[in-house]
Amino acid sequence: MSGTTTETTPETEPLVLFETDGPVGIARLNRPQVLNALNPELIGMLLEQFETWDRDPSIHVILLAGIDKAFAAGADIGDMAPRSTIEMYERDQFAAWDRIAKVKKPIVAAVSGFALGGGCELMMMCDVIVASETAQFGQPEINLGVIPGAGGTQRLTRAVGKAAAMDVILTGRFLSADEALKLGLVSRVVPADHWYDEALKLCHAMAKKGPVALKLGKEAVNKSYEMTLTEGVQYERKLFYTLFATEDQKEGMAAFIEKRKPTFTGK
Ligand code: CAA
Repeated sequence: MSGTTTETTPETEPLVLFETDGPVGIARLNRPQVLNALNPELIGMLLEQFETWDRDPSIHVILLAGIDKAFAAGADIGDMAPRSTIEMYERDQFAAWDRIAKVKKPIVAAVSGFALGGGCELMMMCDVIVASETAQFGQPEINLGVIPGAGGTQRLTRAVGKAAAMDVILTGRFLSADEALKLGLVSRVVPADHWYDEALKLCHAMAKKGPVALKLGKEAVNKSYEMTLTEGVQYERKLFYTLFATEDQKEGMAAFIEKRKPTFTGK
């Protein structure tokens, strides 16, 4: 199965479609008429559901997907265009996005078509990025007389390095899926017809691992952005030792020794 096509959806439709598939919580952005442009209402719905799934022990992994033509083409320009500096400060709409980065469970982004501006920034807050070979990435805010405002200058630079980040942010040019893969912005590029299925398959494979280890693995990798190497290695070691308090560690190691598949319970 591929993603949904770019059909006209009246704005009365939910801005995000939510469902679960066993241990995977699935969110599909649903504003095809504006290429999934992100407005505060949509982000609010996403946050509320992600935080609910983060507390729900039956959900182990979250999948965030767009449609064939766009993961998301950025923050909603129509919504922002008339605003003053004071309004932007008081509204502070991008502060809420920080809560996405605080979700403890792994989030897989399934990207087909455009991931631009806020769409690329939202994608970079996810943990594993599966891209269709047709995907295009960019921070084209410079063409609008602004710069990225939801973390793009920071997360893109950390993902691809200064030279490539400057090139993308100061020219507004788009990166192809191949370029994004070479630069390390995404970790997998898959055939255009299978971007959604491949991402869902990956979620199910991850969901078979120990849920506590999944969360601590994510936390440890993310800490590497915030700490020195020595601090980060110490932090990792503490999390590693902590996992020896879980039944999943006993089960995982026993299963290896007994040459069988482990059954993890999240305890
Ligand atoms: N906000 C609002 N509407 C958008 C949008 C956005 N970010 N991106 C696309 N749309 C709308 C278009 O206005 C158009 O609507 P109408 O049919 O009513 O005219 C519809 O989506 C389809 O778009 P196009 O006709 O432009 O489709 P295309 O295939 O010719 O071009 C595109 C696709 C290259 C993605 C082009 O739509 C585009 O450049 N979009 C804007 C990308 C952008 O600048 N993103 C950054 C936004 S600012 C931001 O995100 C700030 C931040 O850091 C958080």
